[in-house]
Amino acid sequence: MLDAHVDSESTMKDQIKKSFGRGLAAAALGVGLLGHAAWAEELDPEAIERGKAATVACVACHQADGSGMNNEGAEPWPRLTGLHPDYIVTQLKDFKEGRRTNPSMQPFANMLADDQLADVAAYYASLEVVTAEPVEAPAELLERGRELALNGDWDRYIVACVSCHGPGNHGVGGTFPNISGQHPAYIVAQLQAWKAGERENDPLGLMKSIAQRMTDEDIQAVAAWLGQQPVLPENETE
Ligand code: HEC
Ligand code: HEC
Repeated sequence: MLDAHVDSESTMKDQIKKSFGRGLAAAALGVGLLGHAAWAEELDPEAIERGKAATVACVACHQADGSGMNNEGAEPWPRLTGLHPDYIVTQLKDFKEGRRTNPSMQPFANMLADDQLADVAAYYASLEVVTAEPVEAPAELLERGRELALNGDWDRYIVACVSCHGPGNHGVGGTFPNISGQHPAYIVAQLQAWKAGERENDPLGLMKSIAQRMTDEDIQAVAAWLGQQPVLPENETE
């Protein structure tokens, strides 16, 4: 355990040195370069290379750095960095097999062969997490969102997001995705899709039953707060 920690720390230092030049460029653009997810080191470099080649068409929406876009007033494109590779594979499979539907995304999932899904997931999981300026929101809305995310609302059977999405909502394995720092418009779109019965690929209907108990304002609030949180646990300040 101790060795693994020391290892990952020295790898991280190497990485920081390597990305220093790019870090400066990112600072100039007003965006943050926030390091790698914990699983990035375990990925197969050849899979990452194959995955990169298979994502040429994806950049149009998810952007070259995988950070997606909030797209206020239009269809949001989710951030793919900071997501567990197993979760990415599941979602791509669900799109391909029609368990999750979206007219913009589905044709691109269909372009990928089954044996490319893990490669694409490895590629996005390997990328540094880059974030844009967080979307601003009124303090009261943020406070309500924080309360729902961390404590839920027991009177209305709304379970706290952290109880499944893990400490800091950074995700647990490939089943419970990282929702921290995801674009608020995308979080809203997904919660509304579950509420309306348009997204139904969640195991045991766990998300559907929560989304159905949330009001539109609850949804706006929790999305606004989550959207302002750091994508990776190491960037937590509290
Ligand atoms: C035309 C825009 C567009 C392109 C190009 C595109 N996507 Fe998407 N993608 C979307 C949208 C929109 C969603 C959200 C769909 C929804 O609301 O269910 C999405 C969702 C996803 C998700 C699920 C993310 C999550 O958090 O659940 C993955 C994974 C993904 N895309 C991967 C890819 C890959 C890999 C490619 C290229 C092969 C690609 N996308 C190309 C628009 C696009
Ligand atoms: C009982 C467990 C559970 C709780 C509590 C829970 N979630 Fe989830 N959530 C899940 C699971 C499982 C998935 C993955 C669904 C899938 O595989 O498609 C998910 C997926 C999501 C996604 C989609 C992420 C993506 O990248 O597409 C969003 C957004 C989300 N949850 C928001 C929330 C919010 C906000 C709360 C708190 C109000 C919450 N969840 C509470 C289990 C839970």
